[in-house]
Amino acid sequence: MDGENAYLAIVLPQAATVADCRTVAAFNRFFPPGDVYARAEEGKVVIYLKQLDFKKLKEFTAARPDKLAQQIYRAIDSIKSYNIRGGKRIYANYGAERKVKQRKLKEEKRDKVFYARAHDFARENNVVPPAYENRIICGDSQEILKALPDNCVDLIFTSPPYNFGLEYAEQDDDHYWQDYFNKLFAVFDQCIRVLKFGGRIAVNVQPLFSDYIPTHHLVSNYFMQKKLLWKGEILWEKNNYNCKYTAWGSWKSPASPYLKYTWEFIEVFCKGSLKKAGAKENADITAEEFKNWVTAKWSIAPERKMQEYGHPAMFPEELARRVIKLFSFRGDFVLDPFNGVGTTTAVAQRLGRNFLGIDIAEEYCEKARARLAGAGGGPGGHVKKREHAGSVLHV
Ligand SMILES: C[S@@+](CC[C@H](N)C(=O)[O-])C[C@H]1O[C@@H](n2cnc3c(N)ncnc32)[C@H](O)[C@@H]1O
Repeated sequence: MDGENAYLAIVLPQAATVADCRTVAAFNRFFPPGDVYARAEEGKVVIYLKQLDFKKLKEFTAARPDKLAQQIYRAIDSIKSYNIRGGKRIYANYGAERKVKQRKLKEEKRDKVFYARAHDFARENNVVPPAYENRIICGDSQEILKALPDNCVDLIFTSPPYNFGLEYAEQDDDHYWQDYFNKLFAVFDQCIRVLKFGGRIAVNVQPLFSDYIPTHHLVSNYFMQKKLLWKGEILWEKNNYNCKYTAWGSWKSPASPYLKYTWEFIEVFCKGSLKKAGAKENADITAEEFKNWVTAKWSIAPERKMQEYGHPAMFPEELARRVIKLFSFRGDFVLDPFNGVGTTTAVAQRLGRNFLGIDIAEEYCEKARARLAGAGGGPGGHVKKREHAGSVLHV
């Protein structure tokens, strides 16, 4: 048996009873000591874990329904193994087995996040003025956002118009590409300014493949040039097989196969720091949600109620729920500068976040207000004009 250092020590802080000592002895008879063993020590039971056949642990727990056996099971089950070998989960000695040694030193040598090093973002954060808190405001975000102080928003989640040629209420969606990006980046300039130090912006985009415009790369490139830190990219798998296969005449030919995308992208960037300040008790994501959502491919059906809401390009509430819970704390301030009929703001409110939603179309803003709790909204719901959150600013 190796020395204790070769094992991961799991401490169960409790004085062992006689029954517990029997469970410890049975545990040590049941498992090879080179894999795992338990010890009743002064005021605690310690499990020394290197590797384990998890089926055998289930067998052991089923055969001994006492409290300690169940505690041992739960404690081991809550720990992530980093490998499986010969049917056993491997827990300890990750450092020794790592393919890359001296990881930190090598990160420094490569100059990790080199593109964001020379930023000059102020660290002092501010608060959003009450007139902009928990409001849906109609207007051009580029202008409306000028009224907010620097560094006051925790999370921006948004989906801009994609320039696909959709029929929006107030604005054209078929601009000359360079004008489109100039306008989009002018709004994003304001977004970066109002983001807190450590705040995040998550942008849902879909490139126009038929124009060969990689919008998600251009947007990412813009944020990197502005010295934001790339947090990651989420693939929103819509399972949309409704898209075109080939250009005419190129079927089954390498001449010009048309690549098919059933997903959209969410690019996530941070201002100044990858880590966000927030009290632990305000994190409302569950262990299960966290485990599932950090695997950054999310399979979520597209919004099915677009016709009912009268908006051509909504994202589903589930997408907003995941982004908001994964990237912000309860009580944080969430902004959507292209808020449409208010998916982000409705979900933010439900999750106990403060919010501001801006859209250029009053028709959409009214629906977004109606969706807020207590407004009696929803598809086909009655819109109570201006009784609820929202001063209306036209620009
Ligand atoms: C893709 S949609 C967002 C839909 C939204 N995520 C939802 O679920 O309802 C983009 C929205 O941006 C709005 N928009 C376009 N230009 C704008 C601008 N300059 N300022 C504010 N909103 C704008 C459009 O009216 C449209 O509703």
